[in-house]
Amino acid sequence: MPHDSTPASEDATRSYYDNDDVDAFYDAVWGGEDIHTGIYAHEHEAIADASRRTVEQVADKVTDVLTTESTVLDLGSGYGGPTRYLAERFGCRVIALNLSEAQNQRHRATNAKRGLDGLIEVVTGSFQDIPYKDRRFDVVWSQEAFCHSGDRARVLSEAVRVLKPEGALVFTDLMAAEDTPAEVLRPAVSRLGVDALATPDFYRRTLTGLGLSRIDFDDQSSQLVHHYVRLTEETHQREKELRDIISPAYLDRLLGNLPLWAAAAHREQLRWGVFHCRRAW
Ligand SMILES: C[S@@+](CC[C@H](N)C(=O)[O-])C[C@H]1O[C@@H](n2cnc3c(N)ncnc32)[C@H](O)[C@@H]1O
Repeated sequence: MPHDSTPASEDATRSYYDNDDVDAFYDAVWGGEDIHTGIYAHEHEAIADASRRTVEQVADKVTDVLTTESTVLDLGSGYGGPTRYLAERFGCRVIALNLSEAQNQRHRATNAKRGLDGLIEVVTGSFQDIPYKDRRFDVVWSQEAFCHSGDRARVLSEAVRVLKPEGALVFTDLMAAEDTPAEVLRPAVSRLGVDALATPDFYRRTLTGLGLSRIDFDDQSSQLVHHYVRLTEETHQREKELRDIISPAYLDRLLGNLPLWAAAAHREQLRWGVFHCRRAW
């Protein structure tokens, strides 16, 4: 059932990603494809390469379901790096549901340039109210998007509703450690427009309540230190160039905010990894 009004977290997310500064930062630092936590082969690896490894490893979990006959729903699809990877590797169809129209325009343009617009449909909308019928998708996929939600139980319930009975739900998300009080992370998290992050236990309990019987969490929390250190280093090293494309106020805020994430990762107050869920073994 649709919400009566747009949740505050959606307004915050839309204005966050539709902002030119934010767009320029993500594009410059991640390279215009992926915007999520990387899996680093070594501590100096390029952010784009590590982020691509994450997509490969998530996709490896669902190779049994993905064929030219299958359809994936990507929730919170950003610039479309993961959707293009899936369409190219498996020849599957992908529907990319994303709130930010600025990102969606860029996503569609890149798909067209790469000849993938026949396989990927980019739809502007919210994963709080997925505009598709029940049991429609072979794979529901999401990366670093649920962290923006003000109602994550609803997002998961929507994701499971549109999944075929034999389908797979796979997602990565930035989470808090179970014992981290929300107020400790609030100075860092406020940039995302939400009060708090989910925890792995929250996702596990909620998914169990939705009837999923196989819920694997591939815990890769140790990657967060590398990732936030690399983001902070990269932003500092490219500060001069970034100052030409990003407003000084935003860049200064970022340079203040990124070390908060790196410090929280060092203190093991954050968690991150890949959830892979099925209805039965
Ligand atoms: C960190 S980016 C990740 C993008 C992409 N998944 C990736 O890994 O490259 C988070 C994305 O979530 C999207 N998002 C956040 N809240 C959303 C919502 N309620 N509905 C749809 N998309 C949303 C944003 O527009 C943004 O593209």
